[in-house]
Parts: sequence; structure tokens; C-alpha cells
Amino acid sequence: MKVVLAYSGGLDTSTILVLLKKRYNADVITVTVDVGQEDEMKGVEERAYELGASKHYTIDAKKEFVEEYIFRAVKANALYEGKYPLGTALARPLIAKKVAEIAIQENADAVAHGCTGKGNDQVRFDLTLKAFLKPGIKIMAPVRELKLTRNMDIKILSEYGYKVPEVHKKYSIDENLWSRSIEGGELDNPIAEPGDEAFAWTVSPEKAPDTSLYLSIEFDEGVPKKINDEKVHPVEMIKKLNTVLGLHGFGRIDLIESRIVGLKSREVYEAPAALALIEAHQDLERMVLTPRELRFKRYIDEMWSDLVYQGLWMDPMRSHLENVINSMNRYVTGVVRVKVFKGSLIVVGRESPYSLYSRELIDYNTGWYPSDEEARGFITVHGLYALTALKVRNQNQL
Ligand code: ARG
Repeated sequence: MKVVLAYSGGLDTSTILVLLKKRYNADVITVTVDVGQEDEMKGVEERAYELGASKHYTIDAKKEFVEEYIFRAVKANALYEGKYPLGTALARPLIAKKVAEIAIQENADAVAHGCTGKGNDQVRFDLTLKAFLKPGIKIMAPVRELKLTRNMDIKILSEYGYKVPEVHKKYSIDENLWSRSIEGGELDNPIAEPGDEAFAWTVSPEKAPDTSLYLSIEFDEGVPKKINDEKVHPVEMIKKLNTVLGLHGFGRIDLIESRIVGLKSREVYEAPAALALIEAHQDLERMVLTPRELRFKRYIDEMWSDLVYQGLWMDPMRSHLENVINSMNRYVTGVVRVKVFKGSLIVVGRESPYSLYSRELIDYNTGWYPSDEEARGFITVHGLYALTALKVRNQNQL
């Protein structure tokens, strides 16, 4: 049996590699898709061969990840349940697509992944694999099938001389350019504050510099193009923002999240670039979109984020939503200035050629001013229906 394994190099997928060989006597081809998980990429190919892979592929998908996934998320201000920028959820369909392509090319009998039966990632992997694989190629989920636990993983792998890094013994970590997620261990107690060792991208705000950092972010039709007036390669931009903002203690998220499978879980993330870009993008939208466009877009954005979280990247609804999202983003061009200080980020200025803000109109001292008559007329018409309803329903007390 020939199996293509989506291999991260971590605890679960390393154990699966060993078990696929031992239990199923399989010929295992490992595929690691690089979506910016810098730490985990180190030595991953060597580890795959050491643990028995017959062939290994490393696919650099960073640029595709940023341009085809992350930038769509920025345009949609994508924050699941208002907080999580969807790093893992966005990367899964891309990883699954790349793995499926190799499985077809290698004429494999099955594709295997390392997701558990309690999480979201199994849904995202299985569904995208189904969308891309040819019939006849099976999907294997050994962690789910054999009910593997992390302690079992550590035991099995220690026989192979695999050294498990301390942080991975404590937490389950998933990282890519858009976010680093930390789950499990002590974090499963939702009242307890995460220890500093859980974090790798951000310093705690107390340890951040005493000086503030100003950044200007330039968007072109909803896509970030320049930082401090300098054009940067999309991948480098995300990396750079993660680094500088993380040093200022910005980018930590702690939330109780509703999983697809109905469970609530305590999730901790680091996502400095994602939070900053979305905050700035959303600010610019407030300047260039009409009030009704804004309200409608918030609703569409939430639907988009929800689809992505739920593993439904292949749902045709996504392209309908993106038509609306792109149509409104045609005006999201301009510059946003932010100030970062000890873990906080605030927008301190913005400008756009499509600005609907008019200083002439808003200024009290000069320019346009409605007459008393005009104002009274507007107010009468504006509240007419509400005052009528109040009268009809005889509710004089507010
Ligand atoms: N809760 C996040 C999500 O569902 C992060 C999942 C992290 N995955 C992992 N295998 N550790 O998108």
C-alpha cells in the first residue's frame, strides 16, 4: 500500500509515519507544505527519512498562501467569533490541495493526516481532500482510528530516538504566517493565565520597549502593499509585521471558541500581523464605504469567516460572498497610520482618494451649515415612523 502523508514533522504526524510502516507495512511518502511555520520546518526532511519515509516532498506555498488566502481574509476582515484571524483554518485547504496533487501524481492508494477526532482540522482536511482527490484514493486518519494520545506518541517516538521539544510536550501548537495557535495542557483551565513559555512570537507587554512605534500601512483595493511608504514582498510584509509588532507585545489573543464539532475550547493565539492589518483595513473601510455598505459588509464578512472556519472552502457560497467583498474593496485604497505601545495598537490617522469624509461639511465654523428649517424637516421625517408607532401602541412611557 502506498500512502501519502501530510507531514508537519510534529508529534502526531511523526508517530503516524512510524505506525503506517509498522502496522500497515505501507510505503510512506511524506509531504510538508511550507506555509510559514518556520520553527517546524527545521530538519523536517531529515526526520521524515529517519522515521522511514521512502520519499519526501517539501512544497513552498508561502506566496500562494498570502496572495490567495491571507489577502482574501484581510479583505473580509476575517475574525471568527470576532477574535480569531483563522490562520489554521485558512492554511488547511491549501495544504490538503497540495497533498492531494502529490497523491494523484504518485498514484497513491491513500492519503493520511494527523488530525484528532475532537478538532476542526479533521473536517477541513477530509472535506478539501474529498474535493481534490480522485475516487479510489482513501483518506486515513490514524489518530482518530487508533485513538492515539500525545502521551502514546511521546512513548512510541522515544523508541526511535526522536527528541520531543519541551514546549510540544506541554502544548499542541500549530503555526503559519497568519497565526500561531497554542492549545491544551495548562491552558485547558480557562481561568488560568497562560504562562510566558506558551508564547514565541510576542513578548509580554510588560517586557515591551517604553517607546511607541508608528507604522503607516498602505492599501490598494483592500490589499496591503506598502509599509512606511516602502513596497514589500507580500510574504516578507507579514513576517516583518509579526516580528516588529511582536517585539512591542502586540498580537496575543485568548478566547473560548466554538468548535465545528460542538465543543467549546480555550484557545490562545499569537497573530500580530493579522490583527494589525485587519484593524487598519477595517478603519479604512469606515472612511470609504457608505453606512449601508458598511453594515451589509459586516454581515457578509462574518459569513465568509464562518465558512472558512467550518472547513467549507469549497462551498460555492464563498465565491458569491467574495464578489460582494471584492466589489466594495475597489474603494479600500489609502493609508492608515497606527501607533503601537506595550501590547496595544491604535489607529491614529487615515487618508484615501475615495474618502467620503469631508472636512468642509463637518466643520462647525466654516462651510456648509443646514438652516434651522432644514434640520427640523429632516428630524420630523426621520423619526416619523417611530413616533407614529408609539402613538398607535399607546406606549407613552419610554
Ligand atoms: N482552534 C484553531 C482552529 O480550529 C486552531 C487549531 C490548531 N490546530 C492544531 N492542530 N493544533 O482553527
